[in-house]
Amino acid sequence: QGTMAINEHGRLVIGGCEVVQLARDFGTPLYIFDEDCIRDNCRQFYRAFNAGSGQAEVIYAGKAFLTTAMCRIIASEGLGLDVVSGGELYTALAAGFPVERIYFHGNNKSYAELCQGLEAGIGRFMVDNFTELELLSRLAVERGQVAKVILRVTPGIEAHTHDYIRTGQVDSKFGFTLPGGQALAAARRAGELPGIEFMGLHCHIGSQIFELEPYNEAVAVMMELAAAVKEATGLVTAELDLGGGFGIYYTTGDEPRPIRAYAETILARVREEARRLNLPQPRVLVEPGRSIVGPAGSTAYTVGTIKEIPGVRKYVAVDGGMADNIRPALYGAKYEAILANKAGMPATEKVTVTGKCCESGDMLIWEAELPPVERGDILLMPCTGAYGYTMASNYNRLGRPAAVLVRDGVADLIIKREDYSDLIRNDVIPARLACPR
Ligand code: LLP
Repeated sequence: QGTMAINEHGRLVIGGCEVVQLARDFGTPLYIFDEDCIRDNCRQFYRAFNAGSGQAEVIYAGKAFLTTAMCRIIASEGLGLDVVSGGELYTALAAGFPVERIYFHGNNKSYAELCQGLEAGIGRFMVDNFTELELLSRLAVERGQVAKVILRVTPGIEAHTHDYIRTGQVDSKFGFTLPGGQALAAARRAGELPGIEFMGLHCHIGSQIFELEPYNEAVAVMMELAAAVKEATGLVTAELDLGGGFGIYYTTGDEPRPIRAYAETILARVREEARRLNLPQPRVLVEPGRSIVGPAGSTAYTVGTIKEIPGVRKYVAVDGGMADNIRPALYGAKYEAILANKAGMPATEKVTVTGKCCESGDMLIWEAELPPVERGDILLMPCTGAYGYTMASNYNRLGRPAAVLVRDGVADLIIKREDYSDLIRNDVIPARLACPR
C-alpha cells in the first residue's frame, strides 16, 4: 500500500522513513500517515469524478481522520470537507479550511452547532430531520442569512456490510425516510421555509462497500425522488450527494474496486437517469472517508509479553490495543500485521495479537502470520488510517498515541502523544475531598 517498501536491512519503510526509527524517535503506539498515499487517493477521486470541471465535488468525510494538518492536505488537494460536529467544524476553521467547501452533517446538530455553522458561513447544511429544518430556518432568518440546504434521505437500500455501519436501510436514525413520502414532504417544507435554499438531496448507503450495484440503485432511487420533488414543488435538485462508503483492502478476501469504477458507474447512471426523467443533470457529490485515509495510515506497536498456551494459542501482546483501535472489538474488523524489523523474513507462525487493556475482547488480530516474534519487535498494522485515531479512547487511562506524517524520508509530528498530565488535566478534586490528615 502507498509507499511501503522493505530496505536492504530487511526493515520496513513508509514514506522513506524506517518504521523502526520512527518508533525509536516518537515512541509507540504510533500512528504513521503516508502523505503521498493520502494525496494520491485524493487525486484519484478528484480525477475520476472530474471534480475540476465543476460538475462534481469530492468531499472528504472528516470522521475517518481529522486534524488541522489533515485539513491542510485536503484543502490543498481541492476537496471539500464533511464535518459532523462543532468539534470537527472548529478543527476545520482553525486550520483555515475554505468555508464554502464545508458540508455540515449530523442527525442531532445542536442549537450552538447550527449557529456556529451560520456564523462561519459554511457551504451546505446537510439537514437530517424536520426539527433541524425548522430550527435552521428560524436561526438563519434571525441572522438575515440564507442557509443552503441538502436534505439527507434514507433510500431503503441494503448494502452488505456490518450492521453498525449500515445506514441506508429504512429503519435508520439518519435522514428523511423515502418510502411513505417523508422525504418529499421535507423538500416541500424546505421550499416554503424562509432562510432556506434547497440545493439538493443526499444519501449514504453504508460503509466498506465493494459492490457497484448499491450505488447504481441509489442513483436511480434518488433521481426518481428528484423527479417527484420537481413535479410536486418545482424545486430543482441541483446537487445529488451519494455519500461515501467505498471499500478498501484490510485483509485477504477484500477486493476493492478502483475508484474509477465507482466514478464511472455513478456518473453514467446520473446522466442516464437525468435524460430519462428529463431533469437537468445535478452536480454529483461524493463523501469518501475510509478510501482516502484508511490505506494511508498504519499503527506501529512494540511487542511486550508473549504467552503460549501449548496446543491452543500464542498471544503476542502489544503496547496499545482497543484504546487506539476499537474496530476489531466493535465490528470484528480484520487486519494484517508486519514485523517492521523483520520485514524481509518469511512468516513461520500463527499468533494472536492482543492489546494491553483489561478486557478479554481487547484483540487486534486473531490470526496473524508472522516471522518468529520476540519481545521488543516493532509490529506494524497497516490500513488503520480510518476510524482508528478518531475512535480512540483513554480506556484504562492510556494516553492517546502520537501521529506522524511521513514523506520523502521526513517525519513530522501532527498529533502529540498524550502524557500523564493530559490524563488528569480535566479532573477536578472537590474541596471536601481534601487530603485527610
Ligand atoms: N458520508 C456520510 C454521511 C457518512 O455517514 C459516512 C460514514 C461517510 C460519508 C464516510 O464513509 P466512508 O467513505 O468512510 O466509508 N466507524 C465505522 C465507520 C462509520 C462510518 C459512518 N459514516 C468503521 O470504523 O468502520
